[in-house]
Parts: sequence; structure tokens; C-alpha cells
Amino acid sequence: MQTIPEQTPTPTFHVDKIPIYGDALLAPMMGFSDLPYRSLCRELGSSISYTEFARAEGLIHNMRRVSEKLIYREDERPIAFQIYTHDIDYMVNAALKIQELKPDFIDINMGCPTKAIANSGAGVGLMRTPIKVAHLFKRLVKELDIPITAKIRMGWDDCQNYKLISRIVEEAGASLIAIHGRTREGGRERDANWDVIGEVKQTVNIPVIGNGDVKIVADIEKMKKHTGCDGVMIGRAAIGNPWIFSGKDRHEVTFEEVQEMMVKHLDRNLEFYGEKLGINLFRKHVVQYIAPMKTTRRYRRDLLTRETKEEFLILLGQIYENLVK
Ligand SMILES: Cc1cc2nc3c(=O)[nH]c(=O)nc-3n(C[C@H](O)[C@H](O)[C@H](O)COP(=O)(O)O)c2cc1C
Repeated sequence: MQTIPEQTPTPTFHVDKIPIYGDALLAPMMGFSDLPYRSLCRELGSSISYTEFARAEGLIHNMRRVSEKLIYREDERPIAFQIYTHDIDYMVNAALKIQELKPDFIDINMGCPTKAIANSGAGVGLMRTPIKVAHLFKRLVKELDIPITAKIRMGWDDCQNYKLISRIVEEAGASLIAIHGRTREGGRERDANWDVIGEVKQTVNIPVIGNGDVKIVADIEKMKKHTGCDGVMIGRAAIGNPWIFSGKDRHEVTFEEVQEMMVKHLDRNLEFYGEKLGINLFRKHVVQYIAPMKTTRRYRRDLLTRETKEEFLILLGQIYENLVK
């Protein structure tokens, strides 16, 4: 019998020479996109794993809490380490150091609006100093062997220089730009501006990832159509709904699937963090997993106070029985 050769899938786009399969990916999110959650999202179809941002100074000085953010699983590849600082030397030295851990690429955070970070000239604060950005990216590209990418915003309030910054990082040799369609202040109440994502796509020839207010599966295609972007980064809408990466909105996910995911997620947390911290850090995910369910306030409260996996599973069983009755 003749065997038909399996077709190799076509990459959606490339980060330098790295093929990326799939157009939706989990956004880097401090406190959420840790190894357990990233790896679950990756399994469901998120096409790149970005770590939470790590401060360059913390990496240089071997701070355990910071270095821990860069632990990843092989099956997460392609994995991007995201780092930040206002200091060029620290950034370059940290990048050289973490390159040894063999990420697929290193991403420079130029989007964080937190006052302490942005006001120091890091995060979105870097966008206020285009010449420094040029020096930084030139050095990174020259001294590192792996691709360098950037995550930016529209700019610093009245200085919306996203096109200039995009051109600068591309000219310096960066391999991808992710843009969140908001300024520093950006108002969470206003929807992200997708037009600017399209403008960046028109400005550069490297791949562009659009980000901001993708809430449901249909928004992925909508953003791509609106902007022409190569990939779509999803943050808040993926918390409590990792299934968005497999093309499912939350209301399409069954209770059994949610239950199975919670157990899997909890197991990964316990394995990675140990029991106490693992359960503690899991609580904020639980809140999101059960948000759409019709459970009583008592069950919600109880879910947040369980101390062990066993207690947790018993409670999930009770919730299920309560739902199906
Ligand atoms: C809790 C939280 C933590 C975040 N941490 C990071 C981070 O570490 N690095 C980063 O580049 N962006 C971070 N962001 C911004 C997101 O990556 C993303 O740009 C933003 O949430 C907009 O996307 P969304 O509308 O899909 O949520 C964070 C956002 C949230 C809500």
C-alpha cells in the first residue's frame, strides 16, 4: 500500500529564522504567564511562550525570584524571555547572560506603564528616548546570537511615536514588534486603538503582533483583517479561558473541561512552586475559571480557602453535583 507523506504545516510567520505556527499567543503577564499557565496555553495552541517580564538588574545579581521567571519547559518552544530596565549596559549584559539558557529570542519590554518603572525610563519610558532605543537595539543585535524583539505601546501620552520607534528597532536589526494599541495612560475604559497596529504593519517589514482588547475568538480574525498583523497577542481574555487558543469561547467550554483544566493547572502549580505557594498562586486563576459558573457564593468563597489539593478536588466534586442537579 502506498503511504502518503504527511504534509508539513506552513508557518504563519517567522521570527528571523524561527517558524511560528498559529496566529494567536498568550501575552506576557506578570503574575499570570508563569510556566504552569504558559505551558497549558501553549498546549492549547498559543503559538509563542513569552515569560513575564524580568528586571535585568535582578538577573545580573542572581535574584532567585527574578531568575525563576525564566524557567521553561522544552515543549513550550518557541520561548521568548522578556526583560526590562532603563540601563543599556544592564540590559545587554543581562541578555548575554540569559542567552546561555537557550531561549529562542529575547524581548525588550517598552510597554510597561507602571509609574515606578516607566518614570525611571524603563518599560514605556524607554519610548521617550528614541536615540537610546537605537543604541540599545544596535548593541543587542550585534552582541547576541539570537533574535531580539520589542513590545511597545503607542507611546507616552502626548508623544505617540510608535512609528518612529518601530522604524528604529527594525533598522537596528530587531526581528519582530508587538504593539499594544494604547498610550501609557491609555485608559482601560477606552478600547485599544487597532488603527495604530495597522500603521506599524505598514511601516516595517518585520512581523507585527497586534495586542489590545481581543476578547473573543472572532476578535482574532477581526484584528488581523483590520490591521494586517501577523499574530494576535491575548492577555486578559486568556485568564480563565486558555481555550481561546484552541478556538473556543468560554461559553463553549463544558464544566468537565473546566474541571479537568483546573486539576491539570493545579498539578503544574504544585510541581513548580510546591504545595503552599502553588495553591496560593492558583487562587487568582480559580476566580477566573469559575467566574462564568452559576455557583453559590459559599462555593466561591470555599474554593478560595482550600489548603490542599484533596480539599480542592472534593469541593470541585460538590460544585459539579450542585450544578447538575
Ligand atoms: C496582570 C497583567 C500583567 C502584565 N504584565 C506584563 C508583562 O510582564 N510584560 C508585558 O509586556 N506586558 C504585560 N502586561 C500587558 C499585556 O501583555 C497586554 O499588553 C495588555 O494586557 C493588553 O492586552 P489585553 O487587552 O489582551 O489584555 C500585563 C497585563 C496584565 C493585565
